[in-house]
Amino acid sequence: RKAVSVPGLKAMRQNGDKITMLTCYDASFAALMDRHGVDMLLVGDSLGMVCQGHDSTLPVTTDDVAYHTASVARGSKKALIVADMPFGTCGSPETTYQHAVKLMQAGAHMVKIEGGSWLVPTIRYLTERSVPVCAHLGLTPQSVHQLGGYKVQGKTDAAADLLKKEALAVQEAGAAVLVLEAIPAELGKEVTALLDIPTIGIGAGPDCSGQVLVMHDMLGVFPGRKARFVKNFMDGQTSIGAAVDAYVAAVKDGSFPAPEHCF
Ligand code: KIV
Ligand code: NA
Repeated sequence: RKAVSVPGLKAMRQNGDKITMLTCYDASFAALMDRHGVDMLLVGDSLGMVCQGHDSTLPVTTDDVAYHTASVARGSKKALIVADMPFGTCGSPETTYQHAVKLMQAGAHMVKIEGGSWLVPTIRYLTERSVPVCAHLGLTPQSVHQLGGYKVQGKTDAAADLLKKEALAVQEAGAAVLVLEAIPAELGKEVTALLDIPTIGIGAGPDCSGQVLVMHDMLGVFPGRKARFVKNFMDGQTSIGAAVDAYVAAVKDGSFPAPEHCF
């Protein structure tokens, strides 16, 4: 297969080809996921929870994400690698850019930033300087203490309207992709229809342009609480490769997420 590119993602969205994404933190899993056709590998700050054992993503540093990004980049050939901007790295466009450059130099093709309209100058600053940006709206785990827990977002009309405005604002600022986490499926569908860029859902319904899951969740190895949007793709499989194949097939044919995974 061809290497996945930023313009290629937009073409997939326009052609209605669902985009598959999984989190990934090391070279061996990167090679496996790449071989099994996963389009995008996310070096998520979820590594703080699934690799380091913290109870939130807040302790994760840019050096941590850069270390895992370099490992993933060495293992993967064709997938597009997205690295998370950790908590506390986006205070100004300039400081965000300095952290983003470290992640790009470690091997990321794009950085992901949690947050909405307040990030517009930052997203513009990065994209003007050739750092592709993935925005992230809805449940943004770095805001867990402000949100009062890992809760579904965008449930009221006012919250849904605000989320749509923020989605348009980050697209206008230059974001190439938008992750939508833990929002009603109907809102995921509306936001996707409103935008030209691809949306990648995690608990945002089947109508997003693609889907993402944390690998430890979809392989059933994370010992913590299992969110409603998680499906264990190891069920009924005898190898990790087969579980990844099942995930890719279910995202591509629209059977994942099913109604029981949606809000
Ligand atoms: O860090 C992460 O794994 C993420 C995904 C859940 C979208 O941000
Ligand atoms: Na993250």
